[in-house]
Amino acid sequence: MSIFEKLESEVRSYSRGWPVVFDRAVGSHLYAEDGTPYLDFFAGAGALNYGHNNPVLKKALLDYIGRDGVTHALDMFTVAKRDLLETLEANILRPRELDYKVIFPGPGGANAVEAALKLARKVTGKESVINFTNAFHGMTLGALSVTGNSMKRSGAGIPLVHATPMPYDQYFDGVYPDFLYFERLLDDSGSGLNEPAAVIVETVQGEGGINAAGFEWLRGLSDLCQRHNILLIVDDVQMGCGRTGPFFSFEDAGITPDMVCLSKSIGGYGLPLALTLIKPELDVWEPGEHNGTFRGINPAFVTAAEALRTYWSDDELEKSTRAKGERVGAALQSIAEAYPEHGLTAKGRGLARGIEFPNGEIAGRVCGAAFDRGLLMETSGPDSEVAKLLPPLTLSESEVDEGLEIIDASVKAVLGK
Ligand SMILES: Cc1ncc(COP(=O)(O)O)c(C=O)c1O
Repeated sequence: MSIFEKLESEVRSYSRGWPVVFDRAVGSHLYAEDGTPYLDFFAGAGALNYGHNNPVLKKALLDYIGRDGVTHALDMFTVAKRDLLETLEANILRPRELDYKVIFPGPGGANAVEAALKLARKVTGKESVINFTNAFHGMTLGALSVTGNSMKRSGAGIPLVHATPMPYDQYFDGVYPDFLYFERLLDDSGSGLNEPAAVIVETVQGEGGINAAGFEWLRGLSDLCQRHNILLIVDDVQMGCGRTGPFFSFEDAGITPDMVCLSKSIGGYGLPLALTLIKPELDVWEPGEHNGTFRGINPAFVTAAEALRTYWSDDELEKSTRAKGERVGAALQSIAEAYPEHGLTAKGRGLARGIEFPNGEIAGRVCGAAFDRGLLMETSGPDSEVAKLLPPLTLSESEVDEGLEIIDASVKAVLGK
């Protein structure tokens, strides 16, 4: 352990809650170097929707590496990239009648967000972007400027400008009609609101505390953007790739964003990959105007394409995620109802779920108790007050049961029942 404490920066975080050294990982489990198994209800913060070392994806990756397939290729044309684009078109875009072009913005979610924000500003000639309370979009300066969390924002060390936060769905517990404030500011030439280039939104705020926006609210937002000529960017980095059920988390709302940010599970195997999807008429980049060395990690293209073929040629995964999600949601609801004196709330959609506790100290202790019982679960929310569940979508029914039993026992251990 000591080399980590000696050499690794204090900025490390997950290793603090899970102070063991992991070595192997298969399916829904991580194994510490002494062989202790941990049921992984965090799944790489949503990067491992198909589980650890998924055997189908592993085979495709090993075959590709074994035949000396190109590993690094900037944004050159490769066989692996062609296969990914063709599979994305055939299995995802065409069946959903979505007409998007694809930007390879760099390896991570923040790269996908930066590309979307830059392009929205270039297309519209406007600087200002609307974001939402408790949003999280990444740790680079542009992405931080549209992120809510004050601790993360303060890390920037400079003023974060050109973004205006608006209340997310249920921010006022339904007291005010949706978009009352936002629309008033847009309509009032005296409001002081700069005309926005774009709105950026998560359909379910993962880092912000598993806040699921209602479909009505999302439709209202899309409608407002259209009426006011504002581009709508959906950041599906965490909630895309089936996390809430459908491939894109906005499908159930029946909206079509102008841009979509994808990363995390789009690589399939936990390899770095991000995509920014844009309506074709927005593709006004000059060649190389957005750029980066690691936009062509071809092994990630291989596992991404294989994941789209394996899990998105039919609706089996979507249906099973919805069903498991309902089951998990109902179980969390009954845990919450068992402690009326503590006012717990079950939250979420699909297999993005959580329980909100009165404060971060209690939520942290529940996650600690879960770790002691062999379950990895993290907190989220502005005060880390939500214990958040993001299991692999491929987990078995018995793993669902096992995880729920551990959560039940952990809440009991902390709240004293
Ligand atoms: C919604 C959302 N957007 C963007 C990001 C940033 O992704 P990355 O950490 O890969 O830069 C995250 C990461 O958690 C996220 O949840």
